Amino acid sequence: MLELIIACVLSYVIGSIPNGLILGKAVWGVDLREHGSKNIGATNAWRTIGKPAGISIFVLDMLKGFLGAGLGIYYAGGFPDHPEYGVICGILAVVGHSWSLFLKFKGGKSVSTGLGVLIMLMPVVAAIVFLVWLAIVFVTRYVSLGSIVGAALVPVLALIFDMPMVYIGFGTLAAIFIIYRHKSNIERLLNGTESKIKAAK
Ligand code: G3P
Repeated sequence: MLELIIACVLSYVIGSIPNGLILGKAVWGVDLREHGSKNIGATNAWRTIGKPAGISIFVLDMLKGFLGAGLGIYYAGGFPDHPEYGVICGILAVVGHSWSLFLKFKGGKSVSTGLGVLIMLMPVVAAIVFLVWLAIVFVTRYVSLGSIVGAALVPVLALIFDMPMVYIGFGTLAAIFIIYRHKSNIERLLNGTESKIKAAK
């Protein structure tokens, strides 16, 4: 039990690390909270700073979710008997990214971190969701649209692939949460003012 508590705390702290803010300021001298969508995630970094910033922040934020869920599985030592441990710690990494300990409980939209959790828990579902996301972004240039559709697909694919009930619950919660975090993007998509991403910058 103590190990699970330690894993939970660690997952939240890891999830709280604001990679976009730290890297943006330290490497490129840009505070992402003052530019574009004001989000500290990879998309705003790509649009505001450029492709290397976007990709590195995407990978680092994704690793937070991967590590968080992995810690739950490792510390609680129960997989596959206790799939809920990975889910609990994964959720805490996502919570940390969106309500960061280091940003007065503010943060990002948790798409990359959520994908990291998904890769650890349901790699096949993660791969399909990533490909769908990529296709939507490639065709429309709207990252937010890809994220919203990708998030909505997670519980559906979890059901199709007959995942444990707790994973289906996680997918449903994560989808609702991520779509809710995109409410300003949804408004902009509907009124035609959402920013597109450029292939090369
Ligand atoms: O991952 C977040 C993305 O879906 C939207 O980001 O900066 O356009 O609000 P942004």
